[in-house]
Formats: sequence, structure tokens, C-alpha cells
Amino acid sequence: MRLEGKTALITGAGRGIGLAFAKAYVAEGARVAIADIDMDAARKAAGEIGPAAIAVEMDVTRQDSIDTAVTEAAERMGRIDILINNAALFTAAPIVEIERADYDKVFSVNVAGTLFTMQAVARHMITRGGGGKIINMASQAGRRGEPLVAVYCATKAAVISLTQSAGLNLIEHGINVNAIAPGVVDGEHWDGVDAFFAKYENKAPGQKKKEVGDSVPYGRMGTAADLTGMAIFLASPEADYIVAQCYNVDGGQWMS
Ligand SMILES: NC(=O)c1ccc[n+]([C@@H]2O[C@H](COP(=O)([O-])OP(=O)(O)OC[C@H]3O[C@@H](n4cnc5c(N)ncnc54)[C@H](O)[C@@H]3O)[C@@H](O)[C@H]2O)c1
Repeated sequence: MRLEGKTALITGAGRGIGLAFAKAYVAEGARVAIADIDMDAARKAAGEIGPAAIAVEMDVTRQDSIDTAVTEAAERMGRIDILINNAALFTAAPIVEIERADYDKVFSVNVAGTLFTMQAVARHMITRGGGGKIINMASQAGRRGEPLVAVYCATKAAVISLTQSAGLNLIEHGINVNAIAPGVVDGEHWDGVDAFFAKYENKAPGQKKKEVGDSVPYGRMGTAADLTGMAIFLASPEADYIVAQCYNVDGGQWMS
């Protein structure tokens, strides 16, 4: 019970990795706010988890929605001790086909959403005192470019950079900001990624997934469960001395 009595706001927790984090946090004694733009998914997820979870409507691209969701989560849970900035969109296209509207949408969720949710929760943590933990979801995509994934890669590089600056700025308030960089994690997100590669690399559905899974040194794609240990650790007092870092949890795909 490493998170006994703690409360966490997790964005994009209606499904996938965020939902796995919510379940893992509750198993460690925390209460969680499942914040998602998809309220049906958030309610279903909270219902599955039980009384330790609440569903909160949140669109991380809208400042009024961020402010309302953070206030609601803090009021209903009493406080927010932990934030996981997990909501994100994926996109892919060759450079000459990138559309400005798609760029704006993905940067708005992945970068502005991360920054301004972090800001709103940091303000809450500073006002109530006692510090807190913020975990941003980066990606191996933020460690290097990929020929068809310029926009998503750039957003995740920005998440790593924001983690470094916010980590250095907020530690004076006892707020640890760190990031997790997963590799390839099976789930609905990667079904979408697979579809992009099917289109641009003329692959059969499922082929890209199999190829990336085979290329992971560990021998398979990751699962959301592979990431929960790091998410629990970074939210626990054991990580108090860890500041502004980004940890690869990727089966050995990237070294940095
Ligand atoms: N799955 C992978 O292979 C992988 C790899 C590296 C990094 N990541 C990162 O891990 C995180 C979780 O990934 P996932 O695979 O669970 O993704 P996912 O697509 O399954 O889930 C994303 C969630 O975010 C929500 N969301 C989308 N836009 C939102 C908005 N504007 N406001 C609030 N919520 C919004 C969606 O409704 C969804 O519930 C993301 O940051 C992703 O970039 C995933």
C-alpha cells in the first residue's frame, strides 16, 4: 500500500494506460479521479474500479475545462496529491502531407494540455502546501525523430523538455515532476498507430504491430501493466529525491 491515503488526478484515464494506472493506484491504497474527454469511458472505468474512483469530465485543450476539472477533483477527493498527465493523441504523415489543423490539434492536447494541466494542479499543490508528484507521459517517440511521425515525436520531445523545466521550477515547493517514456504498448492507441502505418507503408493490418513487437529487445510489445510499477514508484515517497527525469520503460528499445 505505497499510496495509502493519497489522491490522484489522471487525465485520459477512460481507457488504455491511464486506466491501468488508475487501477494500480487504487490497489496501492489511493483514490483516483478519472478525467477524460470521453465521459462514457470515464464513468464506465470509475464504475469498474468502485468507490475509490470518480469520473471527471475534462478536455485538456480548454482552459475552462482544465480549471473546472481540477477544482472538481480537488473538492470531491479533498485534495490532489498526484497528477498523471496521460491524455494524448497520435498522428502520422509524411512531412509534405502534414496538415496545420492536425498539427494544432495534436500539439493542443499533448503539449498545451500537459503544460496547463500541470500548471493548474501545481497551483493547487502550492496553495495547499505539502508538495506533490506530477508524472508526464512522454514516449520513446520524444527521444528521436521518425520519418512519418514528425508531429507526435515533436510533442513528446516537448513533454520531456517541459518535464525538465517544470521539475527544476517546482521542486522548491516540494513538487516532483518526472516523466515516463514508454516504447510500444499494445492497446487501442496502437491499433490506431498500426492503421496509420498500414496506410503509409502499405502494410497489412496488424503487420506493423507484429514487426515492432518482434524488434523489442525484451521480445514483445509492452502492456499497460508493464508501466504501472514505474508510475507507482514515481508517485511514492521513495521518489522524493528524483527531479526532472524521464524514465524509459520500453523493454530495452532506447538508452539515454
Ligand atoms: N500506447 C503506446 O504504445 C504508447 C507509447 C508511448 C507513449 N504513450 C503515451 O501514453 C499515454 C497513454 O497512451 P494510451 O495508449 O493509453 O492512449 P489511448 O489513446 O488509449 O488513451 C488516451 C486517452 O486520452 C483521452 N483524451 C484524448 N483527448 C483528450 C482531451 N482533449 N482531454 C482529455 N482526455 C483526452 C482519450 O479519450 C483516451 O481515453 C499517452 O500520453 C501516449 O502518448 C503510449
